[in-house]
Amino acid sequence: MRWAKVQINMQLEVNQLFSYPVVVINLDDFFVSFFEKERKNQIWRENIHEHCFNNYVSKDMNILEKYPKEKQKLLDCVNFYKNEIMKWTDVELSITTSWMTKTKQNGFSKPHSHKNSLVSGVVYDSSTSEKNAGPLYFQSTKTYSSILPCNPSTFNYENCTEAYIDVLPNRLILFESCLKHHIGKHLSPVTRYSLAFNTFPKGSFGFADSSLIV
Ligand SMILES: [Fe+2]
Repeated sequence: MRWAKVQINMQLEVNQLFSYPVVVINLDDFFVSFFEKERKNQIWRENIHEHCFNNYVSKDMNILEKYPKEKQKLLDCVNFYKNEIMKWTDVELSITTSWMTKTKQNGFSKPHSHKNSLVSGVVYDSSTSEKNAGPLYFQSTKTYSSILPCNPSTFNYENCTEAYIDVLPNRLILFESCLKHHIGKHLSPVTRYSLAFNTFPKGSFGFADSSLIV
């Protein structure tokens, strides 16, 4: 909640009602050897969807199965997000799919969300360029009707519907899987590699007629 005195000379409050927590964690050199091996090992498929360019996805959708230590590290981070940020302490999550993406200079991808997942994450290779790497863009689910005059003169937290997080070496970005995102234009000549993963609840959860065992 923020308080401000404005031209109308009355005290008012601005409440931001809902949040999209996007958590950034520096993994230091934990994934250096993973990326050194796996960026060469992949069979890449070009992302040929409309609004995608110079963007490739690995054929392997379960890369982390060969890396129990790295998988556990990511699960520890997901558990921090789940327990400390979201307070979803009544559910256990497991990492389901895990894949790599490769984006060459001037590449980008189209907005999408991850289905059948609660929390998603992306780790960036230590070889990622410090400058001009394609940022990770996020889009609000809030939409404005095209018939309303909703073109802000300046953008702020109250009116923006898009935001980005800089992509830097060894960064992990965690977010709710339902949040739409895409790779912004990758201007760097250094190819951008990342490891992405999804999670899903496991065990038993819920109550009475809403209970579920997975
Ligand atoms: Fe994605």
